[in-house]
Amino acid sequence: MKKLNIGILGLGTVGGGTYDILVKNKDIIQKRTGVTIEVVKILDLRKRPGVDESLFTDEPDEVLNNPEVDLIVETLGGIQPASSFMLQAMKHGKHVVTANKAAVAATYEELQKTAAENNVRFLFEASVGGGIPVLTAIQNALAGNNFLEVMGIVNGTTNYILTKMTEEGADYADVLKDAQAKGFAEADPTADVEGIDVANKLCILIALLFDKYIAPTDIPTTGISKITGDDIAAAAAEGCKIKLIAHATLKDGQVVCSVAPEKIPDSHPLAGVSNEFNAVYITGDMVDEVMFYGKGAGALPTGSAIVGDIISVAKEL
Ligand code: HSE
Repeated sequence: MKKLNIGILGLGTVGGGTYDILVKNKDIIQKRTGVTIEVVKILDLRKRPGVDESLFTDEPDEVLNNPEVDLIVETLGGIQPASSFMLQAMKHGKHVVTANKAAVAATYEELQKTAAENNVRFLFEASVGGGIPVLTAIQNALAGNNFLEVMGIVNGTTNYILTKMTEEGADYADVLKDAQAKGFAEADPTADVEGIDVANKLCILIALLFDKYIAPTDIPTTGISKITGDDIAAAAAEGCKIKLIAHATLKDGQVVCSVAPEKIPDSHPLAGVSNEFNAVYITGDMVDEVMFYGKGAGALPTGSAIVGDIISVAKEL
């Protein structure tokens, strides 16, 4: 049986979810790939009960430059040192799979170039829409289209907050705490509520849909921190829901993009996307309109996308 040895950088919410899926669904993954996939090294200062202590190290090089490791799962979060670690791993001939939208968006071109130069796979399905396989679909099943528009609800925390404010009249600060407790929110939830996380994800969507890199800092971005109950009620009176939308449109060959709260008519499929669910609504010149829907945050949905990327590397062995 062929083997694929994994090194995990960061055994937090998403890294831990990935580890759990690889252990729990080991047999079915092995049956589907014909490959034994095993975690052989973990970079984390905190040990985790139930995980072999000898796997842990606090020395990055013991994972990044470990001859036994074939593929690195990067789930540290943040731009640095995550980006440098991914580049270093690629230069050592290791495939890289990540959920880290901030790092992918900030250093997208360098990561892609380094992966190509070193003939390794660089996969980041989990970075947009958590468990929703939208990036894979854009690059495969939908690749025969010229893309015209994308509208996405791609942040679970803010969608959860807006849903609870809309449906229960809940207080913004209370719901944010709830979203943090459920493991949806970023370490610094400013990135969620101010739309920065959504801008990172839109940058990645634009790169794949329109083959154009627009830095997240160049995307006009407004978050939800100033949305009030009155705004929500006014939108409801017009038959609309307020949603934080990642929006990009191709106009006269140019990509026009923004992240902002938008009033979405109740009749639009995106208006029905509630709580931590995400959806990405894409218009292609051939397929017309298509929507991808699922859980956009949390340990297991995000881990599911990471494991999917690992499996696609395993199938190429
Ligand atoms: N903080 C993010 C969210 C996590 O709430 O969607 C998933 O990227």
